[in-house]
Amino acid sequence: MEAFLMVLVLCLFHFFATKALALSTISAGQSIKDGETLVSAGGTFELGFFSPGNSKSRYLGIWYKKISTGTVVWVANREASVSDFSGVLSINDRGVLSIMNRTKGVVWSSNTSRKAAEEPVAQLLDSGNFVVKDGNDSDPESFLWRSFDYPCDTFLPGMKLGRNFITGFDRHLSSWKNDEDPAPGLYTIRIDPRGVPQLVLKKGPAILSRGGSWDGVYFSRRSRKKVNPVYSYEFVLNKNEVYYKHETRNSSIFSRYLLNPSGIIQYSIWNERKHDWEIFSEPQGDQCSIYARCGSYATCNTIETPPCKCLEGFKSRSASSPDLSSVDWSDGCTRRTRLACDGGDSFHKKTGLEIPDTSKSWADISIDLKDCEKLCLKNCSCTAYSNLDIRDGGHGCLLWFGDLIDMSEFSAGGQDLYIRLASSNLNHIQGKGKLTEKQMAGIIVASVIITSGVTMLALALYLWKIKRRKTGEHGKEDLELPVLEFATVAIATNNFSSNNKLGQGGFGPVYKGTLIEGQEIAVKRLSKNSGQGVEEFKNEVTLITKLQHNNLVKLFGCCISKDERMLIYEYMPNKSLDYFIFDKTRSKLLDWHSRMHIVDGIARGILYIHHDSRLRIIHRDLKASNILLDSNMNPKISDFGLARKFGVDQSQANTKDFGVLVLEIIAGKKNRGFSHPEHDHNLLGHAWRLWMEKRPLELLDTGLVDSYDETEVLRRINVALLCVQQRPADRPNMSLVLLMLCATVVIYGAEVESSLAFKNITK
Ligand SMILES: *[C@@H]1O[C@H](CO)[C@@H](O)[C@H](O)[C@H]1NC(C)=O
Ligand SMILES: *[C@@H]1O[C@H](CO)[C@@H](O)[C@H](O)[C@H]1NC(C)=O
Ligand SMILES: *[C@@H]1O[C@H](CO)[C@@H](O)[C@H](O)[C@H]1NC(C)=O
Ligand SMILES: *[C@@H]1O[C@H](CO)[C@@H](O)[C@H](O)[C@H]1NC(C)=O
Ligand SMILES: *[C@@H]1O[C@H](CO)[C@@H](O)[C@H](O)[C@H]1NC(C)=O
Repeated sequence: MEAFLMVLVLCLFHFFATKALALSTISAGQSIKDGETLVSAGGTFELGFFSPGNSKSRYLGIWYKKISTGTVVWVANREASVSDFSGVLSINDRGVLSIMNRTKGVVWSSNTSRKAAEEPVAQLLDSGNFVVKDGNDSDPESFLWRSFDYPCDTFLPGMKLGRNFITGFDRHLSSWKNDEDPAPGLYTIRIDPRGVPQLVLKKGPAILSRGGSWDGVYFSRRSRKKVNPVYSYEFVLNKNEVYYKHETRNSSIFSRYLLNPSGIIQYSIWNERKHDWEIFSEPQGDQCSIYARCGSYATCNTIETPPCKCLEGFKSRSASSPDLSSVDWSDGCTRRTRLACDGGDSFHKKTGLEIPDTSKSWADISIDLKDCEKLCLKNCSCTAYSNLDIRDGGHGCLLWFGDLIDMSEFSAGGQDLYIRLASSNLNHIQGKGKLTEKQMAGIIVASVIITSGVTMLALALYLWKIKRRKTGEHGKEDLELPVLEFATVAIATNNFSSNNKLGQGGFGPVYKGTLIEGQEIAVKRLSKNSGQGVEEFKNEVTLITKLQHNNLVKLFGCCISKDERMLIYEYMPNKSLDYFIFDKTRSKLLDWHSRMHIVDGIARGILYIHHDSRLRIIHRDLKASNILLDSNMNPKISDFGLARKFGVDQSQANTKDFGVLVLEIIAGKKNRGFSHPEHDHNLLGHAWRLWMEKRPLELLDTGLVDSYDETEVLRRINVALLCVQQRPADRPNMSLVLLMLCATVVIYGAEVESSLAFKNITK
């Protein structure tokens, strides 16, 4: 979609009769006509009139000049366009900018807080900031006017997002109405100043999603332990103002946050080599990021079904129904025992949480956790407390008043929250807490394990219910899992005929099938003694349906019949990667370019399952035979049978398999079973040896000699070797790997890291 829009916009930019003045300033009395532009001193940005999409309306805007000229970052007259090519931008001697149309009507004008003392000048800076300054004034804080104070849908490095508490001035992002109309659309991103300030995505007045409050390191929702390699950021909160700001570490890297017309926020980096924006993260995207998904006093966990669960000491408001799936969670949960308030309350510590909405909270950085507890007990409406800042073991005090809303549960990371309960209730939990949890798990597992007709029926009903609910909501939510009849699958695969057999996977044979509607499928028939129990099966099915990415093979559904369990996937016409790269003849079909396309795709897929999906899964069996190829030779990772949840910090360890795979793809040889006349290392050891002996190109598959690019080869081998370092802690995580692989402009930063890492190895 995004790419499509970009193309549209790009096409339309041909309409420009850009007669560049190559000036970066205009002073009082001067003007810019439609067709003329200002260019920032370093040539990065350009300002002028343009028409978005197929629209004929003219707007004054700023776009990149050095890179993609179709990417507009700011629009002045968002709400009032000029209907023809007669628009003129001028600046008067008071420093006010205005856009006039054919009849000299003022379509838009800037609003300056004071009058210019000297002759004012409007200048387009290389940061993309269009400013009005007093003569030769160079202090941005004293400028008469700044476009950065009025962001549109793009958050650029150097911009501030936040609020001035004194003037009430609120710098926020707002989406375009649509791709042809830059007027403010439905969505905004701003810092909500109530309680402890937090980042929120809103649709009109309603909060859609919280970015979380600042926890000292980052916004709590996506706490990062690692330093971001691309940009540094700053969060300022004091009596006068609150703002968030980021700066690119290297000014020749172009990056931006974009809030698109459908309310999706994306962070992307310009990839010079591909000449396109590369999306690095889409912070929203799972069901737990929906604001208050589970109502009050309930946590949301993406990998549980259903995802909502009451906090200990609370019960569902609509608990009358025994069927978990039918509970309407928007009501949330309520206390089992009322608070005593007069000293009869205590706190239950819950770990691994994304802390609740802080709009009704109070904080003081100088108060420690002990006093924080005392403070909370003193006020009956205080419902929970936690540290305000998580750095150095945590400090500061954060108190919540009223209902606790919008909490997510992480399997690793997250914060501690101390929840107020009646002491009698708490004793009950501490006495039996663990057991109850176990029992709960037991109940869920049991409902699947017992394969009696009754439970199967219940399960089928359950799945059907979910499906019906999801269809009813028109939601894009996961778990829309069709369950196929055994007969349907048998017919599709010609009764599992050997002619239809595609191969033998780790857990059993895989068959090609064709459904009656003509849809081609791949059926993984799990062997009865494969060791994959019902629980693992359920795990795999649930996990895969939640994972949706271009580089992951799509699970269509499953089939459960007596002791038969099958997974139904999309069919991949080009088999798997090992079919090509380890075969003398077929390997010639994959030139350097397609191999690197595959490497990048695999990296993206892994990054997604490691980080972006928030399920934090590792693929413990990443190998060439598990990389399937679609009709365009796009890689799709398959087989999550051994996937397990894991903590964020483990992700480095598991880039190792990726490193090995990259080396195999480059060398066209298997790591295991590799032999060399000069030594008895495996492929990995061989690659190290060649690298240390400064002849890494010898690693290349002989079939690639015509198509490779030397610097690229070196970079890829370099990255692969970083991934297979002995100590997991030395290995880069997947986001860094992807940065190093894809963005040539980022390689500088990566090389710093690599040289450090290599020092470790050569020691
Ligand atoms: C010019 O702008 C003024 C003020 O917005 C408006 O009233 C007038 O109709 C516009 N004229 C044309 C020709 O668009
Ligand atoms: C212009 O600024 C003044 C004060 O700074 C404010 O009261 C007024 O609403 C602003 N006008 C517009 C159109 O933004
Ligand atoms: C700015 O201009 C004034 C005179 O208009 C001059 O006195 C001053 O030195 C200039 N400042 C700089 C930094 O050039
Ligand atoms: C308790 O805290 C709330 C919210 O800050 C406040 O409005 C109320 O006055 C406090 N009550 C007492 C008794 O301090
Ligand atoms: C920034 O990146 C460019 C291109 O990758 C590189 O040539 C340059 O040396 C880097 N500059 C700094 C200061 O890191």
